[in-house]
Amino acid sequence: MFKKTQIKLTIIYSLLFLILFWGFSFGIYVWMEHSFGEGYISKVKQVQQQQGNNIGEHEDKTTQIAMVSGDVALNQLRDVLLTMNGIFLIIVPMVSWMLAKKSLTPIEIMYKQQKQFVSDASHELRTPLSIIKGEFDVLLQKKRSPAQYQKTVQSSREEINRLTSLVENLLILARMNAGNNHTQMTFLDLPDTINRIISKLTPKIQQKQLSLHFTPPKENTPLYGQEVLLSQLFFNLIDNAITYTPKKGTIWITLEEKKQNMLITVRDTGIGIPIPLQRKIFDRFYRVDTSRTQTKGFGLGLAIAKAIVEKHKGSITVLSQEDKGTTFTVSLPLS
Ligand SMILES: Nc1ncnc2c1ncn2[C@@H]1O[C@H](COP(=O)(O)OP(=O)(O)OP(=O)(O)O)[C@@H](O)[C@H]1O
Ligand SMILES: [Mg+2]
Repeated sequence: MFKKTQIKLTIIYSLLFLILFWGFSFGIYVWMEHSFGEGYISKVKQVQQQQGNNIGEHEDKTTQIAMVSGDVALNQLRDVLLTMNGIFLIIVPMVSWMLAKKSLTPIEIMYKQQKQFVSDASHELRTPLSIIKGEFDVLLQKKRSPAQYQKTVQSSREEINRLTSLVENLLILARMNAGNNHTQMTFLDLPDTINRIISKLTPKIQQKQLSLHFTPPKENTPLYGQEVLLSQLFFNLIDNAITYTPKKGTIWITLEEKKQNMLITVRDTGIGIPIPLQRKIFDRFYRVDTSRTQTKGFGLGLAIAKAIVEKHKGSITVLSQEDKGTTFTVSLPLS
C-alpha cells in the first residue's frame, strides 16, 4: 500500500518540480530574447547617440555587432538551459522518490503501530471473554451444585472487572491520542491528590506489609493541569511500585520544586527492570517477563502515564537496577 502511494507521490512531486523548472527556464529565455532583441539594439543606439558617434556606416556596423553578439548570447543561454533541464529530468525523479519516502515514513510507522495496537487490544479483550465463555460452557454441560455456580460467577466477575479496567485504559489512551480529552484544567494541590491515591491503595500496601513514606514539599505551589489525568498518572506509578515490590519492601514518594518545575519521584525497593528493557516499558502492552510476578497487568499503565506527562508538557524518566529497586521521576512545568 505504501509503495504505491510512494510511486504516486514521486510522480506528482516530479511533475511539479519539472513544470516549475521548465516554466522558470522558459521565462528566463523569453525575457532574455526580448532584452537581446529590439530593446538591446535601441539601447546600443541610445548609447551611441549620447557619445556623439551616430554617423552612417559606423552606426550600422555597431548595430550589426550588437545583434550578432545578442544572438550568440541567446544561443548560449538556450544551450545552458536545455542541458540544465536535461539533468533535472534525471535528478528530479530521484529527489522526488527520496522526498516521497521521507514524507511517508512517519505515517507508515504510525500506521504499523496502530495496527499492532489494534491487534494487541483485540487479543487482550478476547482472552477474558474466552475464559468466561469456557467456564460457562463447562458449567452448562450438566446440573451443578449452588456452590459450583457461585464459584463460576465469582471468577467470571473477576474477568469482567479485568475487561472493564482494560476498556477504561484503552479509552483513556484513545482519547489522549485523538486529543479530545476535554477535562477541565485546574490548579490542583498535588500533596492532597497523592494522599488520596495512597488512601485508595492502603489495603494493597497493608496486604504486602510495605512501608510507604511520602514527603510533601515545605511550600506548596499549586500545579496547573487536568486533575483526573494527573491522579491517574500518579496512581499508575504508585500502583506499579506496590505491585513490583516484594513483601516488606519500602516505597518513597517525594515532591520537590526545581527551576519552575515540580519534580515527583516514586522510588521502591522492588524487583527492578533490566537496563536493556527500560526503554520499552513505556510502549503500549509491553510487560517485562511476566513470570517475574504473579500479577496480571495489561502493560498499559506506563504508556498512559507517559501520554499524560506529555500532554502536560513534562517528562518522565526511569532509573532502575535489577533486584535493587526502581525510581520513576516525573517533571511537570509549574507555569
Ligand atoms: N516499579 C516497577 N518496578 C519493576 N518493574 C516495573 C515497575 N513499574 C513498571 N515495571 C515493569 O514495566 C512493565 C510495564 O508497566 P505498566 O504499568 O505499563 O504495565 P503493567 O503494570 O504490567 O500493567 P497495567 O496495565 O495493569 O499497569 C510492567 O509489566 C513491569 O514489568
Ligand atoms: Mg502498571
